[in-house]
Amino acid sequence: MTDQPVYKRYTVTSALPYANGPIHIGHLAGVYVPADIYVRFLRMNGEDVVFIGGSDEHGVPITIKALQQGVSPQDIVDKYHGIIKKSFEDFGISFDIYSRTSNKVHHETASEFFRKMYDAGQFIEKVSQQYYDEATGHFLADRYITGTCPHCGNERAYGDQCENCGTSINATDLINPKSVLSGNPPVLRETKHWFLPLDQYEPWLREWILEGHKDDWKSNVYGQCKSWIDQGLQPRAVTRDLDWGVKVPVEGAAGKVLYVWFDAPIGYISATKELTPDWEKYWKDKETKLVHFIGKDNIVFHCIIFPSMLKGEGTYILPENVPANEFLNLEGDKISTSRNWAVWLHEYLEDFPGKQDVLRYVLTANAPEAKDNDFTWKDFQTRNNSELVAILGNFVNRTIVLTEKFFLGRVPEQGALTELDRAAFEEMALIPGRIADSIHHYRFREALAEMMNLARLGNKYLTENEPWKLFKSDPARVATILNLSLQICAQLSIVGEPFLPFTAAKIRTMLNLPQFSWADATLLNWLRAGDPINTPELLFDKIEYPAIEAQVQRLLNTKEANAAVQSKSPVKPGKEAIQYDDFSRMDIRAGTILEAERVPKTDKLMKLKIDTGLDQRTVVSGIAHFFSPAEVIGKQVCILVNLAPRKLKGIDSQGMILMAENPDGTLLFVTPAEGTLNGADVK
Ligand code: 2FM
Ligand code: ZN
Repeated sequence: MTDQPVYKRYTVTSALPYANGPIHIGHLAGVYVPADIYVRFLRMNGEDVVFIGGSDEHGVPITIKALQQGVSPQDIVDKYHGIIKKSFEDFGISFDIYSRTSNKVHHETASEFFRKMYDAGQFIEKVSQQYYDEATGHFLADRYITGTCPHCGNERAYGDQCENCGTSINATDLINPKSVLSGNPPVLRETKHWFLPLDQYEPWLREWILEGHKDDWKSNVYGQCKSWIDQGLQPRAVTRDLDWGVKVPVEGAAGKVLYVWFDAPIGYISATKELTPDWEKYWKDKETKLVHFIGKDNIVFHCIIFPSMLKGEGTYILPENVPANEFLNLEGDKISTSRNWAVWLHEYLEDFPGKQDVLRYVLTANAPEAKDNDFTWKDFQTRNNSELVAILGNFVNRTIVLTEKFFLGRVPEQGALTELDRAAFEEMALIPGRIADSIHHYRFREALAEMMNLARLGNKYLTENEPWKLFKSDPARVATILNLSLQICAQLSIVGEPFLPFTAAKIRTMLNLPQFSWADATLLNWLRAGDPINTPELLFDKIEYPAIEAQVQRLLNTKEANAAVQSKSPVKPGKEAIQYDDFSRMDIRAGTILEAERVPKTDKLMKLKIDTGLDQRTVVSGIAHFFSPAEVIGKQVCILVNLAPRKLKGIDSQGMILMAENPDGTLLFVTPAEGTLNGADVK
């Protein structure tokens, strides 16, 4: 078995996915399937465990998506939180709570956490130069800015991270920075922020991770931490100039929120608070083992930054392990939400109803535990047909069908045991311990292989003993063979539970067995002679070529669509020719915006009062995404004054302002040159 230290309870967290898109197989293989296996196993061991999940609903990826879709960030997170939560439930990820960071408990918890550190003088307050978009009047936090990564040359690096080389970067280090909002190069402007002085935590981090966890953390995790610490840690800003997030709870911080990576991991704590009034023992008692399941892009946040926050706050325990996985690719290409290169969980559940365990199996058997791995639909089909159907399903089905046929659906007597029987029992006795040891060491592929070895053992046992040939001549021997085979099925229902919970439940139903504890996995005698069993139900069925072909075709279509988008010129094609008369009918004048206000209950619209030189009139314009009312007042613009009036949100709009639209959808004013008088004809 294993020499694990003894803990009184476990707090198991799984990375909170951003609520700006659905869950895909990369998320599942990297985080949620291994976490669920671990937790189900702990529960079967009778451990006191909380399994925490939830949506990460702040941060720039969300506000950018909202901007792109012309809706509010709350609309985006409401939509995706719902989709994500349901797909996890349907897939059998057994969270004790699946919460969200936009809720009240979380805002309060994150706020208090910050405030406590602030009051204890744990932050550095610094005025620094940050990128600012003059056209839109926004500071450009994190993903609002892109440019070339100074480390690897990737031209699409973000202001906080390069997804190509995984490096976390400062926006000011980007080469050729560009605002995502206007496409313009940004300027530097002063702004005040609070920084976590990571450099001060460096000696402690060295001791805690580099000395304390050299042997028990996975080498990919340890290696990343070492490289971070060896490069020297810098103070990190934990606040941002944004209006979506947890407000910074101090004086003089209007318009600022906590950095999403400050508030998100606190989400694990707030979710536990929401789950139970007894939450403190899961976060503050040294006899609790805290384990974070994450993907490799989250290592620095969970191993360096969040632990430094916990240490700084002072009353919390630290993670005992952070078993991060590498990435799963799809058909040889990196999974990408923006390129739609993914297998989406909610779509899989629709396309393959009742096959949750097939995906759980494939993702565990091929888990990217030590290196990036590739998911292919061909491999999915092969593992289903040649492993789940041919080995596990076939063994259980043969055993139950034969029991029904020869013993009318009752468990037969176990007679005298042969050498083969004894060898099988001996092997069975070892398997639960091996699986447990692998799970305790976060080696889930190995654990699953051991579980499948039990099914292989069963198949081999049946094949070697050939009970179907013996019934006439030696029914007592057949009884023993089937009794033992049924015991293997029973054991499969126990040791299979963490990996394939739907299948384990089906086996239990067929055998009329309760859900056993892990300690019961070595009993070897779960079924008694005469116990009735139920009619056989196929555990798995073959996946035929057309089902796989449809999925591959879907990916090929995506590839084609992506290639078409890439090859398209970013500039819209020209329109067909018109006559001068067509143009001259338009009455365009220079005018000045006198008043501006957002139209309530809309995201895009702004109501403007404009001096056109002819009159003062109202125009409703779709520019509110890009400009605040304050910054447009006083601006001189070009206005089409003879456009027939129309009602927009109940307001009479009399004309249209001319705007230039960049290929990425950002809008800029077409401004007359200095000296142009209001009312001047634009022609
Ligand atoms: O990378 C991500 O998807 C982040 N939303 C993970 C956050 S994990 C935790 F800190 F909440
Ligand atoms: Zn890079």
